[in-house]
Amino acid sequence: MSDRENVPALLRVLNGEALERPPIWIMRQAGRYLPEYRELRTRAKSFLEFCYSPALATEAVMQPLRRFPLDAAILFSDILVVPDALGRKVWFVEGEGPRLEPLIGEETWRFGEPEKAAQKLAPVYEAVERIKAAIPKDIALIGFAGAPWTVATYMLQGRGGDKDDARLEFYRRPEDVDALLETLVEATAQHLAAQVKAGADCLQIFESWAEGLPPQMFQRVVITPTRKLISRVRELGVDVPIIGFPRGAGAQIGAYAHQTGITALGVDTQTPAIEALEAAPQGMPLQGNLDPLTLVIGGKALEDAAQDVLIAFKETPHIFNLGHGITPQATPENVEKLVRIVKGEA
Ligand code: CP3
Repeated sequence: MSDRENVPALLRVLNGEALERPPIWIMRQAGRYLPEYRELRTRAKSFLEFCYSPALATEAVMQPLRRFPLDAAILFSDILVVPDALGRKVWFVEGEGPRLEPLIGEETWRFGEPEKAAQKLAPVYEAVERIKAAIPKDIALIGFAGAPWTVATYMLQGRGGDKDDARLEFYRRPEDVDALLETLVEATAQHLAAQVKAGADCLQIFESWAEGLPPQMFQRVVITPTRKLISRVRELGVDVPIIGFPRGAGAQIGAYAHQTGITALGVDTQTPAIEALEAAPQGMPLQGNLDPLTLVIGGKALEDAAQDVLIAFKETPHIFNLGHGITPQATPENVEKLVRIVKGEA
């Protein structure tokens, strides 16, 4: 085998190569649309306990890989382990989503030392080691974290949903929000560096709440903290590629792609491929952006939408993915069909 064949296709694209057939992975590929995941999930009392069990996390990662010939594995964990490690209470309400003790309403914001937060996440790094050992060499292992602003919105509001309260708090207490973002930059940099040390081949930063921010605020809470995060990760000796996924950033994806230091840009469902191609630096690998709902519907809607994505990103280094996470209503049969379409077997 030549060296080239040993390099996972995903990493070749992240190094700037445009492949005849793009590699594919699926955001939230381990999850509730898989019956075997729902069964596995019952073995832990809480979702965080599940995340902190290296054996359960490894099994969750392997489940989609056994069913589909995907090109990447993603660590099974959550973006909210970082606030948990910073000493903020985090729990998950069945059918509703995450809850935290909200910072909004607290007079003084106190956190654990960000330099030490990663020490509490040892089970996550043990999971990375186990997953790395369990997956074939041609499958890339993706580590991840939430971007500072996205994680801050959960910490501020204590929940997801409408982000107006987080934005209001920025207007009320901008210096405190800056300090919160600084804390998250350091804790998240340590967390990402530890994942790479444990075996992650590349990283993704989820900025799931890049939506609805005026340009100055976008600069201050999204671009600046993400640029600091990436330069801190590099300072810690990490040289692997980093995918940035600023969901909902709209017309600000160009500023994000040029100014943060990302290697590749995750494109959300609503963004036309041509806009992403024109906005990103020349030759930057792009990832995306199939509508997750086509995996609920299947049939011709799925075939057409998948072909549209393949054609739209044909001329550029491209990683096939969804434009947002897969939904619990998607079917494994439709995922299998999608992978076959992308591999040119359907
Ligand atoms: O294969 C994978 O991608 C699994 C790893 C993973 C999870 N969460 C597992 C999970 C990843 C990469 C995440 C990222 C994450 N977590 C994001 C960013 C991506 C995005 O979707 O925007 C966000 C915002 C979170 C916070 C979070 N965690 C939410 C909003 C929820 C509830 C969502 C829901 O559908 O209930 C979670 C819980 C969660 N994280 C689940 C999984 C599989 C479902 C909970 C369960 O199985 O009990």
